[in-house]
Amino acid sequence: MHTPEPTTPTDHPLLARLPVAAGAVTLRALRTGDIDDFLAYRSDPEVARYQGWQPMDREAALAFLQDAVPSPWREGDWAQIGIARANDDRLVGDIGLQREGAAQVQLGFSLARGAQGRGWAQAAVRACMTGLLVPLGMTRLRGITDARNAASLRLLSRLDFVPTASEDVVFRGEACTEITLERRL
Ligand SMILES: CC(C)(COP(=O)(O)OP(=O)(O)OC[C@H]1O[C@@H](n2cnc3c(N)ncnc32)[C@H](O)[C@@H]1OP(=O)(O)O)[C@@H](O)C(=O)NCCC(=O)NCCS
Repeated sequence: MHTPEPTTPTDHPLLARLPVAAGAVTLRALRTGDIDDFLAYRSDPEVARYQGWQPMDREAALAFLQDAVPSPWREGDWAQIGIARANDDRLVGDIGLQREGAAQVQLGFSLARGAQGRGWAQAAVRACMTGLLVPLGMTRLRGITDARNAASLRLLSRLDFVPTASEDVVFRGEACTEITLERRL
């Protein structure tokens, strides 16, 4: 059986394009040294409220940071990219990219509460599109968000995503509606 060669950051299609500048923030690879900043916002109930992920303990978070970008990045896999403040490189959030097909990706995003309301998520997602996804040949991007998540809906609509579907689901025991928004790249 053929065993794939281990992928180094320089030949991974996502990691090779990092860092990507996005004004006050930079997209960069996550690293284990981000652990305290990462745990701080991922443990914030306001940030986690509409997210599919569960709070992690330190050990799980370290494993997550170490293995944030699967290699190869196959259909169904999530890859996580860090959003860091440009002035001091401190982690303030992350973007999740799930490969949904040869040219389609689903994205998710989280920003520490103290970093919200400044246009940083918008700049980060825009840079992700132009600096990572378009050069990789991706042509379609989807976001799925809870209908109550107004900040996420505003962000996606400012980035020209348009609603394409909605579905009533039960999330954490509560009835809610999930909206799918899409954008061509
Ligand atoms: C979704 C989320 C990333 C949006 O963060 P955000 O900071 O509101 O998003 P943006 O970067 O688009 O910033 C927009 C806000 O900054 C304000 N702003 C201030 N200065 C700005 C500037 N220079 N440029 C652009 N916007 C600016 C805008 O007016 C806007 O405020 P408003 O939405 O109250 O009108 C954030 O709410 C979050 O992390 N939520 C928790 C995680 C989550 O639910 N993720 C979605 C699941 S997929």
